[in-house]
Amino acid sequence: MRKLHVKSYGCQMNVYDANRMTDLLTSDSSYVETGTLEEADLVILNTCHIREKAAEKVYSELGRIRQLKREATRAGRHLIVAVAGCVAQAEGEEIVRRAPVVDVVVGPQSYHRLPELLAQAEGGAKVVDTEFPIEDKFDHLAPASAATIHARGVTSFVTVQEGCDKFCTFCVVPYTRGAEASRPVAAIVAEVENLARAGVREVTLIGQNVNAYHGRAEDGSQATLGRLLKSLADVPGVLRLRYTTSHPRDVDEGLVAAHRDLAVLMPQLHLPVQSGSDRVLAAMNRRHTRAEYLDVVTRLRTVRPDIAFTSDFIVGFPGETEEDFIDTLRIVEDVGFAGAFSFKYSPRPGTPAADRGDQIADEVKRERLARLQERIDHHQRAFNRSCAGRKLEVLFEKPGRIAGQLVGRSAYLQPVQVMAPTSLISQIATVRISDVGSNSLFGELDRAEARDQALAGTGG
Ligand code: 5AD
Ligand code: SF4
Repeated sequence: MRKLHVKSYGCQMNVYDANRMTDLLTSDSSYVETGTLEEADLVILNTCHIREKAAEKVYSELGRIRQLKREATRAGRHLIVAVAGCVAQAEGEEIVRRAPVVDVVVGPQSYHRLPELLAQAEGGAKVVDTEFPIEDKFDHLAPASAATIHARGVTSFVTVQEGCDKFCTFCVVPYTRGAEASRPVAAIVAEVENLARAGVREVTLIGQNVNAYHGRAEDGSQATLGRLLKSLADVPGVLRLRYTTSHPRDVDEGLVAAHRDLAVLMPQLHLPVQSGSDRVLAAMNRRHTRAEYLDVVTRLRTVRPDIAFTSDFIVGFPGETEEDFIDTLRIVEDVGFAGAFSFKYSPRPGTPAADRGDQIADEVKRERLARLQERIDHHQRAFNRSCAGRKLEVLFEKPGRIAGQLVGRSAYLQPVQVMAPTSLISQIATVRISDVGSNSLFGELDRAEARDQALAGTGG
């Protein structure tokens, strides 16, 4: 049987899409999955276009694959190379021109057509499909049936919306993923029920602007994310819900209420602020001020005092002064983020900020990034250290590196390593945190928990 290797870059949406493409191509036994690039008969690079380096990485990977294709051809094998994801969407035919090793270029809205596109490529054609659907953006998400769901362990992503209408001036997403569109509530509930039946215990709802969600409810009205979360909270077997990535402008009262009322909704929120300067936020077209962001944080902390925030930051946006940057450092102190991603601004062709004349020199960006990251790391370490000695609920996912050890995640998404029986995989147990490493927490099963296990072990 032919072997498929998918290499994914970028966001959770891409991880989800990579799984979907794999399921699609393996479900009718056309392909089996391989983890080894060198063995593959079909390589799919699932690309990300959000920052410069992401796209450049793809082209350098294609350089390596060209060599592999030569060797395959010499050995009489036909290696098909496909580029999917946002670079495919943005660059289209340009990819085939720049990297002739590529046979198929397929945008995120066309994955359901992959089998036909691959068949054409098998016949020797170069195929480019980056159409945006006019009718239903979610046609490519086949209605979930238990048979088509391949649960991949304890946690799973579920797409609830795609695209973005916000048009932040630095961002390509509105161009590569198109206008914002939401799936109906019933389709999402059905998918989550199937995942839960297949053993999934934690579901993360994903979308480029997930809290702009406005899918059709069963009664025909438009549901918000808060309402959707409420419908999912009762699905049997689902122990934890999360959602990402959110926009501060779209945190409405219903969403705040969901954090107050739903115990399954985890007290952790990725809420990118990008900058702490009102001047820069306005130039970014973020549609919120520093004070409005802090107000959202306060509203959520009022109803859920233990909620932890993470963020994305961009430094060196065109025109950013040292003063603006200091405002960004200040917001890190004001919020005390549990973690954050930070990036140097990278001009994306076709976006308004890329055309500005006041671009910031790379060494300034580099210096600001280092200063920002130092403060983010400081707060992340402080947050992790504050967990030492606490009892945390851990959802166990898989065996750890050491025999007898399991790895799970806390409510705040921190990896936690614990000596625990494999029978606890896919369950939540209380863990007393004894030690805090740079990336993980370490702990012991709470005594009550451990005693239950001992009883279970003796059949008592
Ligand atoms: N330059 C740098 N960072 C960017 N991001 C998005 N576009 C750019 C860009 N042009 C970052 C933002 C976003 C994250 C996914 O990537 O911080 O939240
Ligand atoms: Fe990009 Fe997010 Fe802004 Fe949408 S809200 S344009 S995805 S940064």
